[in-house]
Amino acid sequence: MYYLKNFESYTNSYKNSVENPEAFWNTIAKDNFVWKRPWSRVLDWDFSIPKISWFEGAQLNITENCIDRHLEHNAEKTAILFEPNNPNDTSEAITYNELHKRVNQFANVLKSKGIQKGDRVCVYLPMIPELAISVLACARIGAIHSVVFAGFSANALSSRINDCDCKLLITSDGGYRGAKTIDLKSIVDTALLDCEGIESVLVAKRIHKDIPMVSGRDFWLQPLLETASESCEATVMDAEDPLFILYTSGSTGQPKGMVHTTAGYMVYSAYTFKNIFQYEPDDVYWCTADIGWITGHSYIVYGPLLNGATTLMFEGVPSYPDYGRFWSIVEKHKVSQFYTAPTAIRALAKQGLDLVSPYDLSSLKILGTVGEPINEEAWHWYNDHIGKRKCPIVDTWWQTETGGIMISPIPNSFEGKPTFATLPFVGIQAALMDEKGDEIEGNSVEGRLCIKFPWPSMARTIWGNHQRYKETYFSAYEQNYFTGDGALRDENGHYRITGRVDDVIIVSGHNLGTAPIEDAINEHPNVAESAIVGYPHDIKGSALYGYVTLKKSDEMNDALKIEINQLISKQIGPIAKLDKIQFTSGLPKTRSGKIMRRILRKIASKDTSNLGDISTLLNPEVVETIMKNSL
Ligand code: PRX
Repeated sequence: MYYLKNFESYTNSYKNSVENPEAFWNTIAKDNFVWKRPWSRVLDWDFSIPKISWFEGAQLNITENCIDRHLEHNAEKTAILFEPNNPNDTSEAITYNELHKRVNQFANVLKSKGIQKGDRVCVYLPMIPELAISVLACARIGAIHSVVFAGFSANALSSRINDCDCKLLITSDGGYRGAKTIDLKSIVDTALLDCEGIESVLVAKRIHKDIPMVSGRDFWLQPLLETASESCEATVMDAEDPLFILYTSGSTGQPKGMVHTTAGYMVYSAYTFKNIFQYEPDDVYWCTADIGWITGHSYIVYGPLLNGATTLMFEGVPSYPDYGRFWSIVEKHKVSQFYTAPTAIRALAKQGLDLVSPYDLSSLKILGTVGEPINEEAWHWYNDHIGKRKCPIVDTWWQTETGGIMISPIPNSFEGKPTFATLPFVGIQAALMDEKGDEIEGNSVEGRLCIKFPWPSMARTIWGNHQRYKETYFSAYEQNYFTGDGALRDENGHYRITGRVDDVIIVSGHNLGTAPIEDAINEHPNVAESAIVGYPHDIKGSALYGYVTLKKSDEMNDALKIEINQLISKQIGPIAKLDKIQFTSGLPKTRSGKIMRRILRKIASKDTSNLGDISTLLNPEVVETIMKNSL
């Protein structure tokens, strides 16, 4: 893998990648992967349509790059190291050889259920090996996987299944999360009442619970795998054939099914993994994310396996059986690279050092963080107590839409500094824009973060809605991809992400759109309207504050608050529950009827010294009442 060795090689590569992007990516793609047919054109693009095509004409299968090509020299190397929820259960090391067999068997089971190239398969599984294997099995036969995080509710699951017309669903009898057991199959059964397109459900056994199976629709996975052939030829895919769909929240409307395609995603996820995590052949790499999110797709499954790495998959939670669990796993498996979210770091830091000091963390070489801005205190705690000031921290900024890391320190090339994602990765042409839509040049400036030029792993469209793709990402700033984030660029050209500039709120590293939460609340018969904003929270980064106006004011009570949160859990999932609910007699609105969230955000954040001009409001009097009763 074309290696960035030091600052000079980073700056030279960056320069090449900007001056001649096609030649740059051509070399990386040619030298590091196996192709069934080479490309005729490296890049074809036009952000005004928008159309983006990388490695046109090439043919490949990503699983041959993730698995088959490692068999010659590394068949017995551990590919996936599974650490179960219960520390007393044995961990499982799946070699590349075994992964090859299990992916092929799974792919053959999918075929036996009628799945063909281009069909959509929904995966709703806990963090067990079958999750990674099912994703790869889909890719083996060209089926498009759509993984839905197993914390989402039945309604959220069914809407995602229906949006992209999935034909088959993969789930389990349940899952373990700390001391809790999650009854996944009953959530699936409820979801499928609304999903006519699902023909078969494959059910992995995890908690060995006796659960109802629908005859002719539901099949236990294990017996099917046992009789399936261990060989399955990899389907030939075109470079731009979709590899997967992954849903992410938008500021309005339903979640967006981001479509990632095969060749560009492969090249970029592999290349960033190698350079940002500096993976060496004997390392054990661990990313604590769930494969239900993009971090898990790119940096638990694809990026590591494309590099022939050993990737650790952890089923449990950081707090079980106690808050020392992460560090006990680092010690047990001699983890070299550890990648987690700021919210986890803050939660662990709060527990004190007694839960860190018993463990030998000397195997660690690199620490990573992702998902939200990391505050200075958490950064220093991570650096001092986990990395012992010897491990570079990579604060990696990226998105579901970008497919791979976009801005990050590169450990042997340049260092991180607290709260800064630092410099764009090679090939990434970042820009800051002002409110008028003009680029802000120079350093020591702040604006809206855009990317000026395509990179190989960018999402190509929103499933079934190209127009929305165009409007969301390519309309605010002509000929630019708009990220939805604000950022500042310091005197050295280093970027610090300041947060979302739209109505997406990042809670514990999870991206939540306000609109679907408000829709859920407004379904309550007593609710007239509602507005959700984020406010700073010690552990979660941001938490959700809901302002709710009722149809009749005498109904304001705590029982109703509980019902509101139950509705949100049902419609979206427990991750979207509100921390605070304030009943209001009205919401501040502009004369055109738009809710002034800016004011509500300030009140929720207890930052009311300067509310700005409220004289243009239709109902300025409500502001004072809301302030008086704020929680
Ligand atoms: O606001 C940024 C924040 O997370 C958003 C993307 O969320 P999602 O698509 O769920 O992907 C998360 C994992 C890649 C971004 O628009 N974000 C992500 N990483 C960082 C971050 N904010 C600050 N610093 C980061 N390192």
